[in-house]
Amino acid sequence: MKIAMVGSGYVGLVSGACFADFGHEVVCIDKDPTKIERLNNNIMPIYEPGLAELVGNNVKAGRLSFTTSLAEGIEGASAIFIAVGTPSRRGDGHADLSFVHAVAKEVGENLKTPAVIVTKSTVPVGTGDEVERIIAATGTQVQFAVASNPEFLREGAAIGDFKHPDRIVVGTEDEFAKTVMNEVYRPLFLNKSPILFTSRRSSEMIKYAANAFLAVKITFINEIADLCEKVGGNVQDVARGIGMDGRIGSKFLNAGPGYGGSCFPKDTLALLKTAEDYDSPTRIVEAVVKVNDSRKRAMGRKVVDALGGMTEARGKKVALLGLTFKPNTDDMRDAPSIAIAQTLQDAGVTVAAYDPEGIEMAKPLLPFVEMKSGVYETIEGADAVVIVTEWDAFRALDFDKVKALAKAPVLVDLRNVYDPEEIRAKGFAYSSVGRV
Ligand code: UDX
Repeated sequence: MKIAMVGSGYVGLVSGACFADFGHEVVCIDKDPTKIERLNNNIMPIYEPGLAELVGNNVKAGRLSFTTSLAEGIEGASAIFIAVGTPSRRGDGHADLSFVHAVAKEVGENLKTPAVIVTKSTVPVGTGDEVERIIAATGTQVQFAVASNPEFLREGAAIGDFKHPDRIVVGTEDEFAKTVMNEVYRPLFLNKSPILFTSRRSSEMIKYAANAFLAVKITFINEIADLCEKVGGNVQDVARGIGMDGRIGSKFLNAGPGYGGSCFPKDTLALLKTAEDYDSPTRIVEAVVKVNDSRKRAMGRKVVDALGGMTEARGKKVALLGLTFKPNTDDMRDAPSIAIAQTLQDAGVTVAAYDPEGIEMAKPLLPFVEMKSGVYETIEGADAVVIVTEWDAFRALDFDKVKALAKAPVLVDLRNVYDPEEIRAKGFAYSSVGRV
């Protein structure tokens, strides 16, 4: 089967490469000629483990190709995926659908053979109807159907998530579309991934509800962590204890500096906008957005406290380990490190930082931070070391070396990577999240 993937960003590229790996013929399309040229030379626009190899292998095998021409790319494709960006619109937080709409129009104008047009981008409820209307308005006489097929992959684990999803959600009531989508995903049925067919609107809602629910879960455990610090509990034990209840589930209960990234912050805001438009408030999500926003700066203040408070902190130096919103990505979007570094700067603290992949993305966002190229170089002369992102490279620090290089043995572990007793026994003043 031939598949066209319009938009070669995170979701488009990973999905396209995986579909090709399953044996489909895939053309990835993108308006950006530089991106396409680089992809043709196996240079990835994003950092994602295993992606360059997957793309390279499938290009070599003749199953995957790249083009800037949408007309050419969609020719003969039975499924045309729209995987372009839906950023938060400046000013009002609504998802900006101008790219999705533009693609729909161009697809309608160039459609020559029957196809299912599938929105993979995260789009507000009702977008499928709009895409259908736009394509029909081009006057095309070719048979088409519009389906919704949200993607749930996580950055840093994208290929594994795509190939072994908990479920595949397809929103369509059209029989032709169902047949095509079953064909598209047939290779995944071998992995026992269930496919769930719903109405288009339900499918669009599922994506927002899933991301909002996960954001709620994280924010909930973060507040419980704060309470644990006050009452003298251990949030990891609490998470384990509640997570064993099958109704709650053990995942996404890691307390930390707050969620960031390309999805949760943007999608929760978009959900709030939809809720507002329909006059059906989602107050829990409203609270989560506020709590998570304020948490990031609060983490900066936690570091200031570890330095001895506002007066003491002024003029001191802090080493931040990890800047990206999570490990195994170079993505800095809404990363807690940004608010943490800013809070420190406001408190008159000098900030040095190291991240295994994120330095280039971080530089323009944190021009006042001194970017280093290794862990120990960053720690040199620091009054406190802060683990902001739990990269593997920070999980087995040489604490003798840390002690020798740092000005003071102070460790703030915002991801609860280490055991408090063990680190204190090494002579460190140690603080973490939700543990005393
Ligand atoms: C998320 C969803 O998981 C995915 O299904 C969706 O398609 C896109 O958004 P992603 O943003 O790549 O994926 O990262 P994820 O691993 O979900 O983490 C999001 C944020 O939550 C990170 O900042 C992470 O550090 C934080 N997080 C996650 C926690 O603080 N605690 C947890 O227990 C889990």
